[in-house]
Amino acid sequence: MDDSEIFQAIGEDGFERLVAAFYRQIPGDDLLGPMYPPDDLDGAEQRLRDFLVGRFGGPSRYIEQRGHPRLRMRHAPFVIDAAARNRWVELMSRALEETQLPREVELALRPFFEGVATMMMNARS
Ligand code: HEM
Repeated sequence: MDDSEIFQAIGEDGFERLVAAFYRQIPGDDLLGPMYPPDDLDGAEQRLRDFLVGRFGGPSRYIEQRGHPRLRMRHAPFVIDAAARNRWVELMSRALEETQLPREVELALRPFFEGVATMMMNARS
């Protein structure tokens, strides 16, 4: 499936459910929990959701509100080693299982998340 067809296939609702399922796991996660702003988890959830919606063919709210994503730069304040990268991918993988998106959407999103997560690494374990 083409990236730009994904929003058409799952809509706001699909991305909302996926990102909510991801963020539900964050506060209780020993590795990632402490990295995220405890008083602005809703904001963080919205930023990831808007980014994904725009990236996969939906409205470009993220760029309108935050500008160019520059994801590596925006992740520079956090120490992201292989363990943190793998944990992020694991939580997103669980969120994908829980959300039960169409199979071809899941098959396109998994390698995308894994690839971007690898690019975010900025520290050795
Ligand atoms: C590799 C492990 C990763 C870790 C530990 C991590 C951690 C974080 C943290 C702590 C934030 C700040 C939360 C906030 O206030 O917005 C953040 C923001 C964000 N992350 Fe990640 N992240 C990872 C991977 C990814 C991946 C794979 C993506 C995209 C597919 C992504 C997309 C974003 C976006 C869009 C933001 C909001 C940036 C902004 O506008 O400020 N992250 N991440």
